[in-house]
Amino acid sequence: MSKKHNDKVEKQFTRTAEAFSEFAVRDSAEVTAEKVQFARPQPDTTALDVACGPGAFVLALAPKVQFVCGIDLTAEMLRRARAHQIERGIANACFERGDAEQLPYADISFDLVSTQCSIHHMPKPELVLREMVRVMKPEGHMLVIDPLGPESDAKFELHNRIEIIRDPSHTASLRLTTYLALFDKLGLEIVSQGVRRRHRSFNRWMLRAGLEPGDKRYQDARRLLEDSADGDRAGFSPQFQEDDIQIIHNEGMFLLTRRAGD
Ligand SMILES: C[S@@+](CC[C@H](N)C(=O)[O-])C[C@H]1O[C@@H](n2cnc3c(N)ncnc32)[C@H](O)[C@@H]1O
Repeated sequence: MSKKHNDKVEKQFTRTAEAFSEFAVRDSAEVTAEKVQFARPQPDTTALDVACGPGAFVLALAPKVQFVCGIDLTAEMLRRARAHQIERGIANACFERGDAEQLPYADISFDLVSTQCSIHHMPKPELVLREMVRVMKPEGHMLVIDPLGPESDAKFELHNRIEIIRDPSHTASLRLTTYLALFDKLGLEIVSQGVRRRHRSFNRWMLRAGLEPGDKRYQDARRLLEDSADGDRAGFSPQFQEDDIQIIHNEGMFLLTRRAGD
């Protein structure tokens, strides 16, 4: 367990839980529905969503499966997830507190094990993915969704530097090639794969991290992003618009299963 890093995660997401789940929500209902469909849920699926945050994916998945559990480190995120669950009258879901590096479940417990927008907060992504494989049933599926870092070293460094200024609990947005190597190492094969260009407003992206234009970290991140625009040196493809900037996250979506024979 990475105690010092986990404290950073909890601090960041306790502070930003309201923005994240109430007024600067990341995914539209259509995008969430697309992600649910990508996971290929079945009526008898038992599912686990790791680092579930305020539960948007869990609660969208619930009507399509037998049962789904969300686990997260941040108590305030879970409090909001449970409140959303009650508001929507969803009975076949639960939310629990725990660490993705040490999932509190027996081996081969779930048909579907998912995580989205969390791997870039993990100091040991391989350990988290290994835990997810451990609790997945033999014929089960694993869903990993996360923004991808640029392949070029210079862009990768600047891209993640801007992310870390915005959110100190960010570790690294991994490259596509890193994911593919990790999946191979863990004995996983790809069932379905896609990269979606997600357009984001810089100002809303900052707000989701608890930052406003008067904040020093907002200004530092914005300056680096503006300086990177010529030649897209941070890999955000920034487009300037009045007082905002449109940026792009290349979101990798991977549906995986155990490689036959492993
Ligand atoms: C950017 S939010 C994403 C939440 C949700 N998956 C979503 O897409 O809306 C990242 C979440 O990861 C959680 N998290 C980070 N490290 C974790 C860990 N080691 N174990 C469990 N949850 C973790 C944070 O508490 C936070 O709720």
